[in-house]
Amino acid sequence: MMTPFSMTFILTIISLFMTLVASAPVSPRDVFVPPVLYPKAGTVWKVGSRHNVTWDVSNPPAQITNKIGRIVLAKGNLLIGLDEPLAEGFDILKGRQEVQIPKNTKPGNDYSIVVFGDSGNNGARFTITK
Ligand SMILES: *[C@@H]1O[C@H](CO)[C@@H](O)[C@H](O)[C@H]1NC(C)=O
Repeated sequence: MMTPFSMTFILTIISLFMTLVASAPVSPRDVFVPPVLYPKAGTVWKVGSRHNVTWDVSNPPAQITNKIGRIVLAKGNLLIGLDEPLAEGFDILKGRQEVQIPKNTKPGNDYSIVVFGDSGNNGARFTITK
């Protein structure tokens, strides 16, 4: 059986905790989410072929937390090959990066490219063929 005192104590702890959560500083982040320009809808790439992925760098924030880019292939809504990005370690402000579609990629028409800087951004769905 709870005494009024322990009840008050618990409520005090809870409200203190909620105050802390509410006042946690939101770190100022300039998230750069560069829109992928190519490949675009209707693009067809062969496995093993090389292409330049391009993205829009015309409107970057003044400060970018992470300028180092990474390109990952997605199939459907799944990022595939997160451990083996198509490219990484390039300057996100370049707007272009050559990639090679791995030879073991399964053909499909629901692929997209994700360019990561601060945050990821999916390009349009495109097709990979044998
Ligand atoms: C990608 O772009 C670079 C720079 O413009 C160019 O030298 C290279 O040949 C291009 N690669 C492909 C596969 O088109």
